Amino acid sequence: MRRATESKDIMETTLNIKKIREDFPILQTLVHNKPLVYFDNAATTHKPKAVIDKVAEYYLETNSNIHRGVHLLSQKATSEYEAAREKVLKFINAKKLSEIIFTKGTTDSINLVASSFGRAFIKEGDEILISYMEHHSNIVPWQILCETTGAKLKVIPINDDGELIMEEYEKLLSPRTKLVSIVHISNSLGTINPVKKIAEIAHEKDIPVLIDGAQGIQHSKVDVQDLDCDFYVFSGHKLYGPTGVGVLYGKQRLLEQMPPYQGGGDMISKVTFEKTKYNTLPYKFEAGTPNIVGVIGLGTAIDYMNGLDTENLFNYEHELSEYAHEKFRNSFPGLTIIGNAKEKTGIISFILEGIHPHDIGTILDFEGIAIRTGHHCTQPVMDRFGVPATARLSLGIYNTREEIDYAVNSIKKVYEVFG
Ligand code: ALA
Repeated sequence: MRRATESKDIMETTLNIKKIREDFPILQTLVHNKPLVYFDNAATTHKPKAVIDKVAEYYLETNSNIHRGVHLLSQKATSEYEAAREKVLKFINAKKLSEIIFTKGTTDSINLVASSFGRAFIKEGDEILISYMEHHSNIVPWQILCETTGAKLKVIPINDDGELIMEEYEKLLSPRTKLVSIVHISNSLGTINPVKKIAEIAHEKDIPVLIDGAQGIQHSKVDVQDLDCDFYVFSGHKLYGPTGVGVLYGKQRLLEQMPPYQGGGDMISKVTFEKTKYNTLPYKFEAGTPNIVGVIGLGTAIDYMNGLDTENLFNYEHELSEYAHEKFRNSFPGLTIIGNAKEKTGIISFILEGIHPHDIGTILDFEGIAIRTGHHCTQPVMDRFGVPATARLSLGIYNTREEIDYAVNSIKKVYEVFG
């Protein structure tokens, strides 16, 4: 049997991580005169040159509005925009193009559903079920909905390892539950939730399920038909694509019954002062000029991912994550990892006894290492574990074992500074 370290070496070589790193120009940057070591991928990922070039090419050669012009550039922009929709459809294995709606990002997608599904289906006394490990963007939109409708927000508890307590989930499903909205992979704990099982259980009671895939889409193969989720949402910028663009996948049956989120151009088929007839799906939910270049850039990011051996790359990320966990646990006696789920991705949230996470972040920054410190927009998770903040490393496809070793050595410096 190969030793774990040896197998990681082989993984890095076979997958050609060196070549992947070369695809991301920013990785050549110096930070405080040190080579950038980027461990803030859960906040945003870097962009491969192909995406950067596509964005520049769009502005240099195409730049026109979509769905509006008879002129050549407008038609080119429209066809590239719609081609990106097709790429998303294939990437997540959706059935129909009408089920792929472009939004500003995960937060926008969830707000769209909260507002529109809320107006169609939620009334006083109804319940929305979320979990303790949700990002604020999967809490606050539902709270706003509850405030306006008189519905109630229910919360599935998590255990000390940061896993959902599934028995409690089942108990919390009631005849009043109208939607389950749950994160695929927790951004602050790294927990991978059993979303397929969650959907299956909810569907036994005919309750639709939304999955927040902000951290799911870039670390796992997402197949919305296999998951059988009713909504799946994600952002482009966490999938190595541009910022300001995201996706709402929704089952057509539900989207058809939901009213528009915003009114404006493109979402109509006929406007009169007496009554407006709305456009068909997906355009009904895409009011105004969208982030055209963002959508096209997202399409290129998907092409880029499709060109990689993602199955093995996700395994590589997993091995790298295990390596990092092991190193962290064994190197520092005063270090506690927050989030120790059995099913976990490359997120290492930790605290060091007696040292504030912001101080860790600042010292690491001077070593060229980018991490995130704070509550990670999951304050209830921090409360659950009794900490105000954590320091968090989040891995991406271009990270290496050497970078983990470097981070471990740099954390030793944090200890030295703080005695
Ligand atoms: N939700 C993003 C993160 O976890 C911004 O950092």
